[in-house]
This record gives sequence, structure tokens and C-alpha cells, in this order.
Amino acid sequence: MVDAEVDDISFLSASGESMKHGGNYEQMGISHTRQLVCSQRKATCVALAAAAVILAVAMISAFSRPTIEHCHIGNNSLHDATQAKPIVGLADGTSEPFPWRSTRLPRTIRPSQYDIHLQINLTEFHVNASVSIVMQVSEPTEYIILHSNNLTITSYYLKSHKTLRKIAITKLLFYKRWNLVAFRLQRALYANEELDLTIEYNMPLRDKLTGLYRSSYVDDDGKKRYIATTQFEPNSAREAFPCFDEPAFKAVFAIQIIRDKGLVSLSNKPAEPPHQFLKDEGFDWEVDVFRQTPKMSTYLVAIIVCDFKSKSDITGNNVQVAVYAPKAKIDQVDFALNITIKILDFYEDFFQIRYQLQKLDLIAIPDFKAGAMENWGMVTYRETAILYNENESSSAAQERVAIVVAHELAHQWFGNLVTMDWWSDLWLNEGFASFVEFLGTDHVKPEWNMMDQFVLTETQVAMVTDALASSRPLTVEVNDADEIDLLFDSISYQKGAAILNMLQGFLTLPILKKGLTRYLTLHEFGNAKTSDLWDALTQVSREQQQNLDVVTIMNSWTQQMGYPVVTISRQGNVLKARQQRFLLNQDTVTNFTRPQDESSYGYVWNIPITYYTESHPSDVQLIWMNRNTELNFADNFNLDGNPEWIKANVNQTGFYRVKYDQKNWDALIRLLKSNHHVLSPADRSGLLDDAFSLSFGFYVAPKVALDMSEYLSEERDYVPWQTALQHYYKLLVLCEEKPIYRPLKKYVLELLSPVVTYIGWQDTGSHLDKYLRSTVMRHACWLDHPDCKVKVLSMFRAWMVNGTKIAPNLRSVVYGNAIKYGGDEEWEFAYKQYQDTRTPSEKKELLQALTTTTDMWHITQILDYSLQPEKIRKQDMFFVLIGVANNRLARWHVWRFVQSSWDTIIDIYGASSYNTLLKITTQHFTTEFDYNELNRFLMSRNCTLRAARQALELVRHSVEWVDRNEELIEKWLRDKSRM
Ligand code: BES
Ligand code: ZN
Repeated sequence: MVDAEVDDISFLSASGESMKHGGNYEQMGISHTRQLVCSQRKATCVALAAAAVILAVAMISAFSRPTIEHCHIGNNSLHDATQAKPIVGLADGTSEPFPWRSTRLPRTIRPSQYDIHLQINLTEFHVNASVSIVMQVSEPTEYIILHSNNLTITSYYLKSHKTLRKIAITKLLFYKRWNLVAFRLQRALYANEELDLTIEYNMPLRDKLTGLYRSSYVDDDGKKRYIATTQFEPNSAREAFPCFDEPAFKAVFAIQIIRDKGLVSLSNKPAEPPHQFLKDEGFDWEVDVFRQTPKMSTYLVAIIVCDFKSKSDITGNNVQVAVYAPKAKIDQVDFALNITIKILDFYEDFFQIRYQLQKLDLIAIPDFKAGAMENWGMVTYRETAILYNENESSSAAQERVAIVVAHELAHQWFGNLVTMDWWSDLWLNEGFASFVEFLGTDHVKPEWNMMDQFVLTETQVAMVTDALASSRPLTVEVNDADEIDLLFDSISYQKGAAILNMLQGFLTLPILKKGLTRYLTLHEFGNAKTSDLWDALTQVSREQQQNLDVVTIMNSWTQQMGYPVVTISRQGNVLKARQQRFLLNQDTVTNFTRPQDESSYGYVWNIPITYYTESHPSDVQLIWMNRNTELNFADNFNLDGNPEWIKANVNQTGFYRVKYDQKNWDALIRLLKSNHHVLSPADRSGLLDDAFSLSFGFYVAPKVALDMSEYLSEERDYVPWQTALQHYYKLLVLCEEKPIYRPLKKYVLELLSPVVTYIGWQDTGSHLDKYLRSTVMRHACWLDHPDCKVKVLSMFRAWMVNGTKIAPNLRSVVYGNAIKYGGDEEWEFAYKQYQDTRTPSEKKELLQALTTTTDMWHITQILDYSLQPEKIRKQDMFFVLIGVANNRLARWHVWRFVQSSWDTIIDIYGASSYNTLLKITTQHFTTEFDYNELNRFLMSRNCTLRAARQALELVRHSVEWVDRNEELIEKWLRDKSRM
């Protein structure tokens, strides 16, 4: 999940799981961030936090508006070379300085090959292992410095690779905080020496979610079974073997796994038959020897021992594809297997480069941190991201499988074959895969209209976070491991995907494809930076006589945060455009900006402005606004026929907003009301998104958005409806404690009424009709539509009493609202179903439904269960928090719960959960009191600076927006009811 798999744990962005549409958490408001909940690391700046409290108290008394300087989270000086060397404690009671003072490893030695032997004991949860690393010295040094985290090193041995002569190691030094281990040598190494370092070590096999860990499930006979699996990205290979754990230290890996006889072991490459056998202390072992991998990064290594079954097939180019799952779920892998074959063939053609390994395994892991992980040749998935049961799973769950499969397959080229040089360019990996996943999915399911959905789940989501003064550039300096975890956010994923989509728009797909092939071929088995991609594209554009300077254009989008709003105004025949940075709140920008947020591009962009006009709606024009703040495009603007309106940013492919003059807004609103089909669904969605966002950002009065959305009484398309409902949801949450809440709610229900009648309760129609039904009914029920209660309770009771199943696409609405309107009996029944179901997507729906209850005892129960892994898996804890936070009556409980369990949660889920936790708990904060309470809480905690600033900035905005707009909305509603 990235910001929480909202699909999986990402919420708002995290996305993650199917929140995208039909479904789940993201549906009601929490739907913008992708923040995976990741590492097991703990932030460690207690002293700083204490200092911060003192400073903060001083600052608050000094200024009337609270400032944010108190939230000093993450020690930014960790990398400061002027700082004293870290001190290490040694076992013999002495201590001495650690010989290296950066979180990044020295470049003096590089690995070329790892031989890893692991004996994985799934009875005693223990691993005995050894690693031999072949490495080359490039500069003289007396130390070898590696990453290692929580491994017990028992012996080590260094020799020359060529002469086999031993080189004595005089001391082992650890610097735990940065997971570093240093071997001090008796003599200095020379440049060009080649060495073999062998380390023997062991570790417990814990039930965590990173490194080499254990996961479990209950089989058909009710027996608990264990598996061993890995999740290494970004910093956890070092939890399984000592290594150079940075993406640019590529090497080949030869892996051997010693496992219980009767289990299966899997890794990136196929195992060489035959197995060897070992007998030892009453255990029967077998050894699997895996073929050597290509040159690759440590974070892509995968090691699995399990008793799963598999189904397999072969691609057009003879790649053996297998999908693994527990025996009881193996009937749910067919969809994933089928599309993997098709998408792999499609990508080989798309990239014009063959898939590099002979086999590709996909496996469903019962306990999994993210949504899926692209280990080369051995992709691991959360169960909901790969298993699909056609009788039980919704269309959204099916689409989720396709999207995740297409995403991880894209990484086999973009990420695995060519890897970002350092995590600063993580967006290259994730943004790219998030863009190409749409092409891959569209290839297998053209009827799903993936590119229309793109604006909803990528562009519009990214624009929410990126409107904050506390956003960040795509390419960003990063060193600390916790900061790296936090880069898996909606900027890397959604903004990355959105700007690539914009790039495709002006470059055209054939040129983009050629450039990608060039880039991948040039850097294969190596590493690259953002600029390398732009260089390849610039070259191809030149060769094709298109001559676009991709480097210059794209730097303005990747090296500074934010995006522009283009104001288009017309006076007679003269049309003018002006750009400025779009900010959610221009008045508070200085409060949330740090000195390092200055941009060398001055917050001005190279914008491809596309548009069409009333006179020629199918004639799309492109004009460049090249970092000029004003543009007069009278010359390009075809005024033939004296058009009434212009629509810019065609299909919302550009990463910018458009603000029109009042006359043009009025003309567009008239058009929507008279014949909205003149504009595409993506354009209608884009207009709504701009109008609402401009009004949330104080650029236009709320009247523009409210007037525009009146046309929705005629709208029957999912994409614009979803955009509008997300904004209405936000608006209602903002006004929840105000007198206008009631009339506003009544109004939104009226607006929904025709589409509720149109779409009905039958699970029929196209893919997007099903999504429309799901989102419309969810919101109607949330607003207590009179038919809803009767309908959902009767369907749910028919299931309880007669076993009449509910259609898969209605389940999330029916389950959730039946629990909301029902009592104990419904809750207990749903809980039982939750425990019993074998369909992971169903389990997720039921878990979310349990959080919608109005019974506070059940709320406290489910919150308590969320921290008891035997009741609710660790991987699903965030779904409970998200669900309760979306429950109007219970959301304050989640805030209280999160505050009181903060340390426990951070301990389990790592620093990256700050982001998710704060977003979940504070989305409904709308008063000065709430702001102060959040401020106080953050002052008392270690929190990562950006997450804290973003949460505070959003709440500050909510408070001011309601203050300044409540009356305007009330007036609009009053005027309307008078009409
Ligand atoms: N590389 C990520 C998995 C990952 C995420 C590792 C965060 C470490 C931290 C993988 O490719 C990914 O992005 N997975 C997504 C699913 C995808 C469809 C967006 C996820 O896990 O949500
Ligand atoms: Zn990814």
C-alpha cells in the first residue's frame, strides 16, 4: 500500500485497495493518499522532541497563530559530516568511534556476487545462514562497511578472491541506529583487490512484515500452517543477510535454501534439480539450489518456503508463469494467471525488450505489508491483490487484481532491469509503474475505460496533496531510512503517473515508446536517474523531428513541488493566459514553507495548454506556456464562429487547473445543463474537479461549483459522479457541525435522487455502471436516503436467515449499512462471516462493515481487536482505523484510540505510518479547538516533519474555509429554495 494500501493500507492514497472505486475505504472521503505502512524501525529523537516542546511553547506564546516549528521530527542533521562520529558500544565494555559517518555506504568497495545459504526452520522459527560476498576495492581502505539489521553474526572470514590468502579481521563494530556493521582489517586493502567475505549468522523468524519473516494461515483441517517469506524494499534485505543494501550496488545472487522435506522453496530464479538431502537432529531437510540471478539490487531478492499449491501456464515467448496460493484458495488464481500471460506478452512488445528470466512466479501471502512487491521473477501479493473469486468478488476487486498485476509486471522492466540510482528518484519506479499499469490493464480489459478512470485515481488524487505548501518535489533529497519509507506516497505514485500521462499527451505514444526502449536498453542491468529518462526522450523527439526539449520541460514538473493554475480570460478577440502556483491556502503558505522549499524554477512551469472551443469541439489545439507567467494567444486562438466557450486541459491530461472568467464559466455551465455529452466524461470530471478545488482554494466562490454541479441531475456517467461526490463528501464533513449541514445534506440527497432511481439495486450493466451504482448508493445511504435502510436490511436479513447471497457489487454498501442500521445480531453475524470466509476480498468488505456500527461497545471491541493479530491480521489494522474514522458517530474514538496506542502502532508499523495515522484521524477536524488539540499532540510526539506539517496545514485550511464560506453556501441554498 503505499500511503496505506488504501487499497491496501494506503488510504486517501494508500491506497490502496480498491478504494479506487466500487469500493471501500476510499469511497467515503478517505481517498487520497498512498502511504504504505512499512518499516519496523522506530524514530529515535526523544531529546529533540523535548527540545521541540520547549521551543514550541515559546513560539506559541509569541505568535497568535500557532506555527509549526515545534514539530521537529526526523533528525535532518544525520548526514552532516561536521557532526561528531557516532559512538559505538562494544561487547568488551570499551567503546570507540564508528569509522563511517553517513547513512549511505562508502563507495570504496562494491559487491559483484552474493552466495546466500539459508536454513529456514519453520518448526522452531529460526534461521541459520551464511553469506559470501565477492567484492572489488576501488580505493585503499582499512574497513569493510555493510548493512546488517538484527542479525546475530557468529563468525566471519575474509580472503583474497584470487590467491585465497586470508586477511585478518581485527574487530567488528556496529552502529545500530543506521544498521551498519564495520569490519576493521589488519592491513589496508589496495585498489583493484578482489575479496571474498564470508559471514555466518542467525536470526529468529518473527511474525513481522519486513525482512525474512513468518506468515501463517489455517488450512482446511483447521491446522495452523506457517510459511517463510520476504519483503525487502526499501531497506530490509539487511534484515535477512548482511549486504550493501542500496539500489545502486547491483550484484548477482546465488541462493540456496535448506527447508523441511515436504515444503516448497521459491526464489527469483528456478531451482536446479535434483535436491540434496540432509539429516540433522531428527529433522529431514532438503536443499534447493537456485540458479544465479542477473545483476540486480538487493531489495529485489525474494526467498519463500511454503506448502502452497500452484497453477501454471506459458507465455508466447515460453516464459513459465505460475501462481501460488494455499490449497484452499488455489481455485481463485485463474484470473491472475490468465492476465499475467497476456500482459507479459503485451509488455514485451511495448518495451521491445524480452522479459529477462525463464520463469515468473506470483504468490498470495497471508500477511503482507503493502499491496504487492515486484521481486524479480518472484512477485509477492497481498491476498486481495491477486485472488479473485468470480462468484464472491466485486468488479472493483477484480480490477484491483488486474491493476496490481499490471503494475508489478511493469516493474520487471522499469525498476528491476533498470533501477533508480537512489531512493530520491523512487518516483521513476513507482510513477512509471502506476502509469503503465493502466496501459496493461486496458490491454486485457478495454471495456473498463481505464483512461477515464485515470483522472480519478491518479491526477485528481495527486492534486490534493500537491496543493499543500508542505508538499514535496518528485525528486527529493533523502538519506534516513524512515524518510525513505515515507517516499511511497501520492507524490511518487499518483503525481508520477499523472505527469507521465501528460508527457505521453504532448510527445505521443509512439515517441514515448521509442524513448523508453532507448532508456531501458542503454541502462539495462544498471541504474539511472530522472535526467537519463528525459535525455533518451529528448533524443528520440529530435530524431523524429518533433524537437521537444523534454529535459527542460519536465524539470519544471519534477524538481519543484506543486502545480499551476492557469487563468484564462477573454476580452473580445483577445485571449490571455496567466499561470500561478495553485495553493490550497495562499494565506498560510509562509507558515508551512521552509527555507529549503524555495524553487530554482520560481514556481513557474512549462505547460502544454490544450483546448477546444464551441465552434470546433473536435479540433484540439496545443500551445506551450514556457515558463512565462503571461501568454497572449490571440494568434493561436481560432475565433471562427465567435465561440461562446473554450474548454482547456482536454481530458484533464495536463497536471494543472484552469480558472476561466465568469462569462466562460457561465457558458460552460449552460452547456453542461443543456447537453453535457458535448464534453467527454473526463472533461466533465475535470471541470467539476477544478471548480470545487478552486473554490476550496479560495480562487472562486463556492457558487461556481454549486451552480455547475446542478447539471448532475442529468449525469449518468461514473467518472464525473465520483469526482462530484468526493467533493460533496468533503463539503459535508467540513460543515458537519454547522447549522447548514442539514439543508446541505437535503440538497445533496435531492441531487442524487434521479441517479439513484436510474441506477437501481440490480447488479447489472457495464463495469462502470456497477461502480456508479456502488458510489451513488454508498453516498445516498450515508445521507440516510429513505429507501436505503429498508433495502439493505431486507437484503442482509435474507442472507442471515435464508442464506440468500447478495450480489457481489452490492455487498460493500449492503454490509456496511446493514450494520449501521442493524443491531447486535447483524454485527455478530457479520463477524462470524468475517472469520469464516475464504474469499479475501469478502473478508475485507466484512471487516470494513464491522466498523460502521452505531453501537459504541462494538466500536471499542473492533478497535481493540485491531491490535490483536489473532483476531485481525496486522496487515489489516489500518482498515479498521479508516473504517471507524469514516463513521460519523465514532470518529472521535479513533482519534482517542490512536493517541493512546500511538507508540504501539509506530512500533509495529514503523515511522511511515505517521502519515497514514494523521490523515485518518484528522480529516474531519474543522475547528480552532481541533487544530490546537492536534498541535498539542504533535508537540508531544516524534513525528515526521512532513506528515505533521501536512496534517496541520489541512486542518488550518478546513477551519478557515468553513469560516469564510459558511454564509455563502447558506445564501446559495436559500436562493435556490426560493427559485
Ligand atoms: N514496490 C511497491 C511495493 C512497496 C511499497 C514496497 C511500499 C515498499 C514500500 C509495489 O510495486 C507497489 O507499488 N505496490 C502497490 C500496488 C500498486 C498497484 C500501486 C501497493 O503496494 O499498494
Ligand atoms: Zn510499484
